[in-house]
Amino acid sequence: MNTQEIKDLEGFTGVVLVPVFETNPQNVVPIEFHGVSIPSKVFYGKKDTHYLVEKYDCLHIFVGLGKKIEYKSLKTLFRRIASKEKERFGKNVALYIPETFTLQQVEATISGLSLGTYQLSHFKNDDPHPFLIKEFSLSILSKNDHTETIVRATKIARAQKEVMQLVDLPSNVVTPSYMAEWAKDMGKAHGFEVRVLDAAASKIEGLDAFLSVGKGSAKEPQFIIMDYQPQDDKLRHIGLVGKGITFDTGGLNIKTAGMVHMKSDMAGAAAVLGAMVLIADLQLPVRVTAVVPCCENAVDKDSFYPSDVIKSYQGATIEVIDTDAEGRLILADGLSYLIKNFKPEIVVDMATLTGSCVATFGYECAGLFTNNAELQQKLQYSGDAVGERMWPLPLWDAYTSELDSDIADVKNYHGKPYAGAITAAKFLEYFTDKHTAWAHLDIAGVAFVDDEFAKSKHASGYGAHLLTHFIENL
Ligand code: BES
Ligand code: ZN
Ligand code: ZN
Repeated sequence: MNTQEIKDLEGFTGVVLVPVFETNPQNVVPIEFHGVSIPSKVFYGKKDTHYLVEKYDCLHIFVGLGKKIEYKSLKTLFRRIASKEKERFGKNVALYIPETFTLQQVEATISGLSLGTYQLSHFKNDDPHPFLIKEFSLSILSKNDHTETIVRATKIARAQKEVMQLVDLPSNVVTPSYMAEWAKDMGKAHGFEVRVLDAAASKIEGLDAFLSVGKGSAKEPQFIIMDYQPQDDKLRHIGLVGKGITFDTGGLNIKTAGMVHMKSDMAGAAAVLGAMVLIADLQLPVRVTAVVPCCENAVDKDSFYPSDVIKSYQGATIEVIDTDAEGRLILADGLSYLIKNFKPEIVVDMATLTGSCVATFGYECAGLFTNNAELQQKLQYSGDAVGERMWPLPLWDAYTSELDSDIADVKNYHGKPYAGAITAAKFLEYFTDKHTAWAHLDIAGVAFVDDEFAKSKHASGYGAHLLTHFIENL
């Protein structure tokens, strides 16, 4: 999406987007803009309303913001305009930035417009969104210079669209090898190191829990390790881990419901990959090491079995009660590999881990698990700031015994119809070597959603912006 700054609408023809804060329906003073006058009785800036006026060869779209508006709503509003009104746009669009807009509001608006160009029709011959054609230009009409914010907003949206595409593409396209190649390409383009362990290399490393999950699939597991390291050795060091199950059939404990959505079971991995791209793109002064175990949980003669006892990278043995609780197995190896080999100061993992978390929070918020109060506060702060929210659930010792196994060091599922998200998080905790700054985000509900932007469930892009904002504000 090309952008340029303009100081007035002199000679401009095309669509003009005009955000309007709510006044009062009884207001006698009309809303005036560019010679257009709208009586308050007709339009007064109520949130989620818009009003179209054609004048001077311009189609003005007045966009109601309500009295005040937070980041996510503003972004969604402009995403909606860009995606649902796309027939109205030609190659010239102007966006008026009110003087009262904060930098965050400018960012949300531009990011939303750019996100609105995302189309789910990856396998159709649809025309590209008008904002994406070469001749297109978005003119920013503002008294202030917003160049930096515009560049930043565009980068955020670009990373989010990449995340959405990875999640929305089906599992016969986004295989573990596809994810590995994607990471390598992005590493080259944005300047971070990428190393990938294939099945043989993972075996040599002892990533047995990870390999057990991928055993039943014809698609080779890939253990992706990424390192973004600007040249300064006094930087803070953050570790990220993302669940990369490219399809979750449940394994031999085959899923009886919702399997069709399980191409999205790599959304944690996609969020971490997207965060690496965005962090490197923004050249943040911080070291970030990310581990993304990718494999498929398939049904086959070679699949791992319920009751199998498997080894883990950390050394502990695991009794597999349920092969559908596979995410925690690959994350166990991902977490312990990251912590043992890179010793990051802070560790955050993201995973579409449990149906229990969806049942608790729906699509609105992720489950947050940490024993570190400062980490909790900072993650929640970032979540609120970018509209990717989360809420804490406990990691109390009282839950530890749920994972006691008679035959092995630990079991992967307590087999009870309650506390599913918490016991999954407790299982992960076992593999963090008592790290004092670890947080787990269960994004099962927020990563793949039902909303106004498609008829079927689709990727939300959750996570990449959140992790980036968190790391920027440490
Ligand atoms: N990938 C699923 C969790 C999930 C469910 C993600 C719904 C998105 C939407 C995970 O691997 C899983 O199957 N979890 C089981 C665990 C259970 C068998 C212990 C669950 O939560 O039901
Ligand atoms: Zn599963
Ligand atoms: Zn899963």
